Amino acid sequence: MINLLDEDYQARALRADVRAGLTAAPGARWLPPKWFYDARGSELFEEITRLPEYYPTRTERAVLTTAAPEIARTTDAKTLVELGSGSSEKTRLLLDAMLSRGTLGAFVPLDVSESALTAAVGALTEAYPGLTVTGVIGDFARHLGHLPDGDNRVVAFLGGTIGNLVPAERAAFLTALRQTLHPGEWLLLGADLVKDPGILVPAYDDAAGVTAEFNRNVLHVVNRELGADFDPLAFTHVATWNPGREWIEMRLRASGEQRVRITALDLTVTFAAGEELRTEVSAKFRRDGLSAELSAAGFALSHWWTDPRQWFGVALAQAR
Ligand code: SAH
Ligand code: AVI
Repeated sequence: MINLLDEDYQARALRADVRAGLTAAPGARWLPPKWFYDARGSELFEEITRLPEYYPTRTERAVLTTAAPEIARTTDAKTLVELGSGSSEKTRLLLDAMLSRGTLGAFVPLDVSESALTAAVGALTEAYPGLTVTGVIGDFARHLGHLPDGDNRVVAFLGGTIGNLVPAERAAFLTALRQTLHPGEWLLLGADLVKDPGILVPAYDDAAGVTAEFNRNVLHVVNRELGADFDPLAFTHVATWNPGREWIEMRLRASGEQRVRITALDLTVTFAAGEELRTEVSAKFRRDGLSAELSAAGFALSHWWTDPRQWFGVALAQAR
């Protein structure tokens, strides 16, 4: 396991993000979604993937089941890198296809969540004894330059996590990724697609309240790591579809006036009753828009797979 996120680095990054996000003007306050994923947040995400309303995971799995042999044939991958790998459960479909093709020697999952990564690396090492599995604890927005060099690498970025980046972050991410790859290497990108808000909104506001707990978890993280005194239950989970931006926004709404002390920042923040804090966007894509974004970053779309309802897309793009 390689750890690019020593405690000090993480503590400084969290302090900077919380100060920037919470000192923004009321109504424009935000926290970056990567802070959801402590051990509890990673567990809650896994629970979300099993909810009846949360279609992305099972739909992407179905698409990958069909596409994996062609992905293996087209890429002849020697190394598979996975960004934001989480449990790497669906990735097994790719590992199986690439191993039976006989080309694959190494798997490098990278994630900011040490607990999720440790569990995944343990399970994969046991399941795939012939494969070199090297977990990297890191931030895909900062550490792409640290990925192992090689030839014929495929970088998988699954689950629709690309949608958790706002457009400027997405462009910077894709450009940085392109710069780390050699021409001819590959990006395999899972993207959730624009669909009826009647399907989208419940996926982010489930009846059992698991997504609400996931959303509030970021407040528990800030309380624990920065000595803050948020009352998470005083914030209501909000998930709305923004038709102009074509993204789901998750927010936390103060149910009454809240005064929060953040000791590590020597900061007190007041939320008016009803004021919202944005905790995540989850953008939904169209094939043409995604293809244009890939092209602008120096990738050429090579293959595109989707499910019969066209709910989730998997793009295979090659570095030009
Ligand atoms: N790819 C998996 C997990 C998706 S959940 C799937 O498809 O099911 C998003 C994952 O990205 C989590 O494991 C989270 O810890 C990780 N993550 C979020 N922001 C990150 C960042 N900036 N750098 C690295 N990993 C990140
Ligand atoms: C990780 N990511 C793709 C999930 C999503 O659907 O945007 C995170 C999530 N947020 C709420 N539910 C799931």
